[in-house]
Amino acid sequence: MKANPALFNRSYAKHAAAADRAGWSVERDIGWDSVDADLARQTPDLLDALRDAAIIESFHPVNLQRLLRLTWDDVDAGVAFSLEMYEGFKHFHALRTYLEVVGHTPALTDAELVDARRRAMAEDAGADRSLIERLVEFMLSEHLASYFFRRLGAQAKEPVLEGLLSLIAADEVRHAQSASDIIARRIASDASLVPAVLNAAADFHHFGEQAIGEVPVAMPGDPLALRTFARRIERLCGVRLVDHMKATLDEPLDVSRTPRRAARRAS
Ligand SMILES: [Fe+2]
Ligand SMILES: [Fe+2]
Repeated sequence: MKANPALFNRSYAKHAAAADRAGWSVERDIGWDSVDADLARQTPDLLDALRDAAIIESFHPVNLQRLLRLTWDDVDAGVAFSLEMYEGFKHFHALRTYLEVVGHTPALTDAELVDARRRAMAEDAGADRSLIERLVEFMLSEHLASYFFRRLGAQAKEPVLEGLLSLIAADEVRHAQSASDIIARRIASDASLVPAVLNAAADFHHFGEQAIGEVPVAMPGDPLALRTFARRIERLCGVRLVDHMKATLDEPLDVSRTPRRAARRAS
C-alpha cells in the first residue's frame, strides 16, 4: 500500500526529511587521516575562531532548553530544536576533533565547556525575554553562523577543513530556515507579533555572546550576510528592517558595522 504523501507534508516532516538528505557523519564523511596539520597550523587565527565556534556549538543544551521550554506546545518547534540539538552537537564534535587532530593549543577541556554554560546560565538568569525575541535571536544567530562558516571555509587553506566547514555552513542555513518557518507560522496566526519581531531584529545579539562574550567574525561587516539578514526580516514582516530602525532609533543606521552593533540603541 502506498503511503499518503500528505503524511510527509507536515512542517516537521519536511525539516526532518531535509536533515536526512543533508546528513553527514563526523566519523565516516570527514577525511581525518588526510588532515594536513602543518598546513592548518599556518592559520592560527582561523583555528582560534574555530575554537570559539566549538564552544558556542557545545552550549546548545543551555540555549535550546529555554526555547524548548517555551515551545512545549508547538510540535514543529520541538522537532526543529531537537534537530538543532543533534546537529549542533555534531558541529561541536567535528570542530573539537579537528582542533585535536591538528594539535591546536590550548586544547578544549570539558571544564571549559561547562564554564561557558555556567556563564550563559548566569547571563540569562532573570532575563525576562519573550519567546519571539528568543526565536528571532536564534534564527539570526543561525543565519550569521552559516556565513561565518562559509567565509571561514573559503579562507581555510587546509582541504579537509574547507570541506567540513561547507557541510556545517549548509546545516546552519537549514537551521535558520526552520526558525524562520516557526516565526512565520506564528505571525500568520497573529499579525500583532510583527513589531516584536522587528524590535528583536533591531536589538539582535548573537546567542553565542552569552557563552564566550565576543563572538568570532570571519568577515567584518560582511555585506552579503547583512543584506540577507535584513531580507529575512523583511520577508517575515513585510517591513524593511532599515525603515523600522530609522523610525525607532535616534542614531542613524551604520551598515558598515555588524547588525548587533548597528542595532545597539543609543543609551
Ligand atoms: Fe552549528
Ligand atoms: Fe545550528
